Amino acid sequence: MDPVILTPRLKLTLVTTAEKGSQDLAWYHQLRSNEQSSFWKQVQPIHSLIHGTSKSLEETEKGWKADPPYPTVESPHRVNYAVHRLLAPDTDTTQTEYIGHVNLRSVSTSGDTARALAIPETLTSLPPAAAAATVVIEVGYGFLPAAWGKGFATEAVQAVMEACKATSNAARDFWRPFTKVYVRAIVNGMNGASLRVLDKVGIAKRGIYAWKGEPIFHGGEWRGEVDLHIYGMYLVE
Ligand SMILES: CC(C)(COP(=O)(O)OP(=O)(O)OC[C@H]1O[C@@H](n2cnc3c(N)ncnc32)[C@H](O)[C@@H]1OP(=O)(O)O)[C@@H](O)C(=O)NCCC(=O)NCCS
Repeated sequence: MDPVILTPRLKLTLVTTAEKGSQDLAWYHQLRSNEQSSFWKQVQPIHSLIHGTSKSLEETEKGWKADPPYPTVESPHRVNYAVHRLLAPDTDTTQTEYIGHVNLRSVSTSGDTARALAIPETLTSLPPAAAAATVVIEVGYGFLPAAWGKGFATEAVQAVMEACKATSNAARDFWRPFTKVYVRAIVNGMNGASLRVLDKVGIAKRGIYAWKGEPIFHGGEWRGEVDLHIYGMYLVE
């Protein structure tokens, strides 16, 4: 993936390390330690881990060590960009301020949320003829509250989607052995801002699933019933 992506108002930098003392970890910790930015982090039914607000840099580092934000042998299709606002967008791309992250992970290596939540296949299935050649990636994002409501999440997610679609040999190599890329997002119906971002980015909504089950901690409380909005579409096919 491109080490740097520039948009009219943003600079996205590819995360390459989770090391203590690194700028990448320090930026991510700003986000993870912010209560509002972490509000929709949930108990992951797959991993049985509680992701709330991170209480220390060590805790943030532990999370990234357990689930590295860059490609590894176990998880080769992992992508994470730190997002920065350009302070002088018309004249200078070096003066920036960190505002958030956009994250992609393959469901085959990170655990399939759709399967764990028993989401009906009608909302997640792929054409059988294409499924074996397809990598399914889940998109996630979070921004610092001071940057909300300015279209930055939409601009950043759109830019990452475009980078996924790049047709250079390097871009194609990144997805090997897969030749098709399908992007998915599963969002709590009460997270209006996130639903709106996905609608604006243009990822198709496949439907809504009224999930019921063992309570999960999501959006500030334990919930045994959640309307899950399932988005998904092919980026490369
Ligand atoms: C979701 C989030 C990334 C959106 O970031 P953002 O930079 O404010 O997003 P944008 O400005 O690009 O778009 C937000 C849109 O949602 C709308 N919106 C905001 N709050 C809303 C709400 N409660 N209900 C409905 N729409 C809402 C905004 O008006 C805007 O739409 P518009 O451009 O048509 O006016 C940000 O709120 C965030 O980081 N939240 C916490 C983490 C999170 O929820 N991540 C997603 C998990 S699925």
